[in-house]
Parts: sequence; structure tokens; C-alpha cells
Amino acid sequence: MISQHTIQLVKDRMDIEEVVSDYVSLKRKGQNLWACCPFHDEKTPSFSVAPHKGIYKCFGCGKAGDSISFIEEHDGLNYLEAIRHLAGKYGIEIEETEQSDEQIEAQNEKDSLLIVLGFAKDHYRNLLTQSVEGKSIGGSYFRERGFTEQIIEKFELGYSLDQWDGFTKEALSKAYSEDLLEKAGLLVKKENGRQYDRFRGRVIFPIHNVSGKVVAFGARTLKKEDKPKYLNSPESDVYHKSKVLYGLFQAKQAIRQHDNCYLVEGYTDVISLHQSDIENVVASSGTSLTTDQIKLISRFSNNITVLFDGDAAGLRASLRGIDMILEAGMNVRVVVFPEGEDPDSYSRKLGTTAFNTYLNAESQDFISFKVTLFAKEAANDPVKKADAIKEVIQSIGVIPDPIKRAVYLKDSSKLLDMDESLLVAELNKLLIQKRRTNQKKEDRLAHETPSSEVIPELKEKSFDPDDSIVAQERESIRLLLNYGNEDLEEDYKLKDYLIEELREIEFITPIFKTIFEIFQEQHASGNMIDSQYFIRNASNEIKKEVIDLTAVRREVSPIWTDKHQIQIPHEQDFLDHTVYQNITRLKRNIVQKLIEENKENLRDVTDPLEMDRLFEIQKKLKASEMELSKVLGTVIPK
Ligand code: CTP
Ligand code: MN
Repeated sequence: MISQHTIQLVKDRMDIEEVVSDYVSLKRKGQNLWACCPFHDEKTPSFSVAPHKGIYKCFGCGKAGDSISFIEEHDGLNYLEAIRHLAGKYGIEIEETEQSDEQIEAQNEKDSLLIVLGFAKDHYRNLLTQSVEGKSIGGSYFRERGFTEQIIEKFELGYSLDQWDGFTKEALSKAYSEDLLEKAGLLVKKENGRQYDRFRGRVIFPIHNVSGKVVAFGARTLKKEDKPKYLNSPESDVYHKSKVLYGLFQAKQAIRQHDNCYLVEGYTDVISLHQSDIENVVASSGTSLTTDQIKLISRFSNNITVLFDGDAAGLRASLRGIDMILEAGMNVRVVVFPEGEDPDSYSRKLGTTAFNTYLNAESQDFISFKVTLFAKEAANDPVKKADAIKEVIQSIGVIPDPIKRAVYLKDSSKLLDMDESLLVAELNKLLIQKRRTNQKKEDRLAHETPSSEVIPELKEKSFDPDDSIVAQERESIRLLLNYGNEDLEEDYKLKDYLIEELREIEFITPIFKTIFEIFQEQHASGNMIDSQYFIRNASNEIKKEVIDLTAVRREVSPIWTDKHQIQIPHEQDFLDHTVYQNITRLKRNIVQKLIEENKENLRDVTDPLEMDRLFEIQKKLKASEMELSKVLGTVIPK
């Protein structure tokens, strides 16, 4: 327990403005300071801090309190943990009243997880700096990469010995339970009873939450033949991948200070940038940013600069992801690196000064970048030009602020060398379409409420491509979860087939999208994944869905089958057929949806050139629908 004396010291020292400023950027207005509330979603500030009273209050969501309750609420800590956090912030030494084992005392599971993860971090740090193997193998690897002592310390990098259970033994001897080690993702337990350390013979990159607690690890192998190259902690009660940004803890002050956040791909990029004196940098860890991650950044700044690897194909694929950042109302700039270079390699190649110069010189507004990119390709090709316009309008269309949209329209029309009014018309069309789909969605939700009377017959008759897509998405996920590990052919598993086929398809149902992404990710990192994985690790919502999908549906009574000597064919027996049908149906549904959307566009179109183009698209879509229907053995009338 923390002594009353220490608690008093913390209370005397804590300053609400300093505490809150670690999380949001405050602006003075009159006596108070204001910011957008970190506890609820808002665009205009209603969260106030009264420095002389030592309190905060949000006039939007009603949350209020002092520095301690702010930390409790914000970081999900209990009272004593919040005191500890504040003591750490102000360098106040903690006086303990009893020297009891902290890990045993912590009742709360999250606390225990954070404690064991902190222990693991210290363990790996010690191995790197103290052990012979750590110093020679881990240490020389970091040196080769050019990481300095200070950087290694700042990021708390470590090393895990090349042994099966070095960490587990150590942790058990300190009275941490196996169960806890497993929950923290540090110990892997197999069904056959075998168990071993997750991280072995790897350099360790601890992943911190925004308040500096270690919540997970990324670990890089040092052997060429080892797969995967980077092994990451699984999700846990304290680690939700989509809500954490690597480097944010080390970056947050600098992000606020520069009012800009650089976004890179991985651990090494973040660290190399720090070495080049750029500290306002975070990594999304491979995937495109999630809305939660965008929100995290927006606590510190509204400006993001995305650093792209020099790889044309990858760049194309990442463009869409950026619309999400725009949609969150943030300003986006981009820097593209030369072919074959990433921020890590390029910063080392150029050295600090030249690299900083490069960033400042090459950084450009995302929309202008996108317009220029497409305009170049479309130079003398009217069809491509129409595509370019569509693409650019898509991005401008998601920006919430109408004034910003207007400015972008003007700039883009210049870059594309075309009349601004044309772009305005395009944008309006898009916005109307969006409103319509939103309306439809709302209508549908309204129909789904039990109170409203829906005539079932009518409901079934009206064709809604979205509904059929959802049904097929559900079926894909069901097959993946139930039979992912079954062989379709020798060494070609159902999951390999499905993942390959679904790669280019964007799920429209959020929960199926999430399940698929988790599945794909785990599979890609070489982890065994099946329904059990989700049932053990996923959120309640996902768990429920997975249980629903994997519960056996129709069991034929064994008595009946015995008596009649009938062989009931099992789904397993014709999996290849089932899964092929599923994918083909899904594709057809998507094409049908595109046909419907294109029809809508045709209805609104006034420009004859545009109309020709849409008819062309319609023809192609129809042909593709026909192809898919043939495969399915159904011919559609008309
Ligand atoms: N990364 C990852 N998982 C992988 C590969 C890469 O998470 N399987 C991330 C890491 O965060 C890494 C970044 O992507 O920092 C860059 O990848 P890469 O260049 O392949 O990793 P390096 O460790 O830099 O390897 P190399 O020395 O071969 O460049
Ligand atoms: Mn690299």
C-alpha cells in the first residue's frame, strides 16, 4: 500500500492543467482552458479545465473531477494506480506502508496483467544489458541497426533468450500464475499439454499505452529462416491492437508541440525517426489506421503526415485508408520516399539533417497529391480523367467541413485543368447519393424495430443486394471458422482459398469484417487460428457471433439414421463445392449491388459523355453478372 504521506505529496504537487495536457491540447479562453472532450466524441470543445480550482468538467457528457479522477477515468486505472501514475509523472518517490507482494495484492485482472507485462519488460531489458547471450546477440543486432544506448532505453528494448521456458521459469519463481502468463500472451499452452515462452531468441519491442504502461510486445527474430519475422502479443484485456499506436507514449509531447503527427508503418521506422531527432511519430503496425487510433492522435493534434514507402503498388492500396483520416476531420499531408526505401532505411541513408530537409521539402497536402497523381495518368485520356475526378471527389466528399471542401474543389479544378462548376456538380451528386444510402439504412433500421409492423411477404419480395451480401459474408465466415483447417486438396486448406478470394473484397458487415481481419492477420503471422481463438480472446460481441456460427445447426437423430440405414452426407464431404458456391454468390451479389448503384447514377446523369461512360460500365457489370450466374447454374430472367 502507498503511504498517506506519499498520497499527500502527490495531491500537493498535482496540477490539473499539466495532467490534462498530457492527453489533450488545451486552449485558453477567459479564466478557463478548453479542449474537445477526451471522454466523448465531439467536434467543438465543451471540456473545460479550471486551473485555480484544480478541476475539469465537460459540459457535453457531464464528466467532472480532479487530477486523480481524470487519470482513473482516462487510463482505466483505480485510485492507487492513478496516484502511482501521478507520482511517476512528478518524480515523487513512493513510500510503501507494507512490503507485501504487489502482484498478489492486485485484485483487478487488468492490474495484474499490467504488472506481469511490466515484469516481462524488465526481464527482457535485463537480459539485453546483463546476459552474455543478450549482449552479444541482441546488443550487436541493435548496434548494427545503429540504435544508440539512449534510444534503446527510451523504447525499453530488450532481448529474449533462445530457450523454451527461460521467462516462464523466472516468472513462476516470482509467484506469477501460469494462467496470468498465458492471459498476458507470454506463455503459449498447447492442447497436448506442452507449453513454452512465446518469445524466444528475439529482440523485444515493448508496446506502451498512452500513459506509458507496457501492454504488449513485438518481437523480431534474428534468424533468417525463422518465421514470422515479427511476432506480436495476442490481444488481451489490456491490449486491443486497434486502439494502440506504437510510439504514441514517446511521441505525445512532441506531437502537441509541433501540432503534427508523422505516421509510419513499423517499430523500426518510429525508432529511426527518433534517432533523426523527429519525435512526433507513431506507427499503425502494418494495417491502415482504425478510427480509434485516429481519435487517439486527434487528442494531441489535428494534423497527420503519412510517410509512404517507395512502392507504387503499396501506395495505391493505401490511398483509400487515408479517406478515413479525412473523414475524422483531420488534415492530411503525405511524403513519398524513393522506390525501395522506407522511413527507417532512408533516414539512415541520408543522415539527420538531410532527412529533415527531405521531409520538409517533400511534404505535400494529401488531396493535391492525389489529384496530381491521377491527373498525370489521365493526361490525354477522357475516360481516365473521369475516373480521376471520381477518385478525387470521393476523398473531398468525406471531409466534414464544407469550407475545406470548397477550398479543395477550387484547388483541384486548377490542378485538373477543368471548370470548378463541374467538380461542384460531381460532389453534390456524391453527397446526395450518400444521403440516400444513409436514409435507406435508417429506414431499414426503423423497419427492424419490433414495434413497426412489417408485412413479411413484402419484405421478402423487395430485392436488397445488401441483405444478400450480408448473408454470403456470414456464410464465408462460417465456413472459415468451422472448416478453415480442412484440406480442399492436398496442402491447400480451405482458409488459404478463402483468404485469397476474399482479399480483394471489402466486407460491408462490420463484425464479419473484423473477424475476417483478425483471422487473416493471425494466419499471416503464422499463428494457428480457429473458432476457439475467438472464443478465448475476442470481445463479447464477436464471441457471441462466433459461437452462433460454429454451433451445430441441424443434427439428424442417430436413431432415425440407424433404423433406415441412411448415410447422411456431411457438409465436410463436399466442402470444395460449398465454398466455391459461396464465393461466387458473394461476388455476384456485389456485382448486382454495383449494377443497382450504377442505375441510380444513370438516373441523375445529365452530361451525355458521362452517360455513355455509365452505360459502358452497366454493360460490363451485366456481362459479369451473367458469367457468375452461369457458374452458379442459375439463369436470371430478362
Ligand atoms: N513488420 C511487422 N511484421 C512483419 C514485418 C514487418 O510488423 N512480418 C513491421 C515492423 O514493425 C517493422 C516494419 O514493419 O519495423 C518494417 O518491416 P521490415 O523492413 O520488414 O522489418 P525490419 O526489421 O526493418 O527488417 P529488415 O532489416 O529486413 O529491413
Ligand atoms: Mn526494414
